[in-house]
Amino acid sequence: MDRTQFRSPRLTGSPSTTRPSIFLPEARPGIQAIEESLIRVIAQSAVGVEDVIGLWYGEPDAVTPAFITHAAKVALDRGETFYTANDGIPPLRAAIAEYQTRLGRASVTVDRIVVTSSGTHALNMACLALLSPGDRVVVPRPCWPNLVGIPSLSGTQVTGPSLRLVDGLWRLDLQELLAALTPQTRMVILNAPGNPTGWMLSRAEQEVILAHCRQHGIWILADDVYDRLVFSGGVAPSFLDLATPQDRVIAVNSFSKSWAMTGWRLGWLTVPHGLGPVLASMNEFVMSCAPGFVQEAGIVALRDGEPFVQGIVGHYREARDYVADRLGAVPGLSVPRAEGGMYAFFRVEGCRDSLTLARNLVHRAGVGLAPGRAFGREGEGYMRLCFAVGRERLEQACARIETYLATHGPN
Ligand SMILES: Cc1ncc(COP(=O)(O)O)c(C=O)c1O
Repeated sequence: MDRTQFRSPRLTGSPSTTRPSIFLPEARPGIQAIEESLIRVIAQSAVGVEDVIGLWYGEPDAVTPAFITHAAKVALDRGETFYTANDGIPPLRAAIAEYQTRLGRASVTVDRIVVTSSGTHALNMACLALLSPGDRVVVPRPCWPNLVGIPSLSGTQVTGPSLRLVDGLWRLDLQELLAALTPQTRMVILNAPGNPTGWMLSRAEQEVILAHCRQHGIWILADDVYDRLVFSGGVAPSFLDLATPQDRVIAVNSFSKSWAMTGWRLGWLTVPHGLGPVLASMNEFVMSCAPGFVQEAGIVALRDGEPFVQGIVGHYREARDYVADRLGAVPGLSVPRAEGGMYAFFRVEGCRDSLTLARNLVHRAGVGLAPGRAFGREGEGYMRLCFAVGRERLEQACARIETYLATHGPN
């Protein structure tokens, strides 16, 4: 990875996101009650604090590679500053279909690809299209807070089994998941490799889940945004490899993680046959379309980005091992080796309040981690560190965590 372009992401926004207690007109109850993502809370708490190594978000500290940025500049210079199609420009949709086939996924026709303005937008599109108030949605936890927050926007009930650490790896108890997937369930959201744990689903597990969901008419929303960041090599198994074009399976993907494009806001959906045009029409009223010059950059990322993707996987694997070895040697810390993704999700023995610990680490140690509680109550007592950064910053961050814990302890 080209680290000459290294930079620390700029923090913007107001330091405090506390809501005012004076009377204000209220949003509808489900929206008014939304809890802020505690990842954002911690990042915002660092606005104005000098010298903080921010490892709270899931993004690298290196800017997007130049060959991708160049494609966007060329497109801008060509005048690509207009609205585009609701489901994306045809060459990008074709490039995505071709890319997925190249990865060895079952071949998907272009009419099943819908380009979105990020993975987050893709998840919102799927949930908006499929969920109604009162629907039951299942998501294994700990999980990225948005996987609970997004379906909750539709007034659904989100529940789910807990992942567990088995021999140092996060695992899903398949029987527990199947028991949660009753005929009353509308959707299961499965993110593997998962944020924050790095857990993975095997092909055999996916087969069992798909058969069960077929039987009960349950939608599978597969969040595949980390499918290239797999440390045993290759690409993660996807439900797309198993599903027919008629199955109730939607896969979400994004340019953010594999091509270091978090700020560009570009992603895509692969949907069953017939749903693409419906989502395209719906997108007119949601986002209308992704920017044309960003989509041009996406085409080049897919076409020329393979050496870059493979490079970052190698780099992240080394970073994962470095953090696991170094922090794993600190008394009281247990640091599982993630199978994929970009995070170390580690337990801090004796920590009862991960949010307070995260705040203290920002203000007293100069290091920003996401508190485990952000990922559900199962995550309390854990911290998430994004290791997609250069070695020097990682060493400094680990040193600061070690010194803080040795001096102050976990609470
Ligand atoms: C599990 C998961 N899904 C989806 C996303 C969305 O990524 P983006 O909206 O940047 O495409 C993220 C980002 O952190 C994620 O962790």
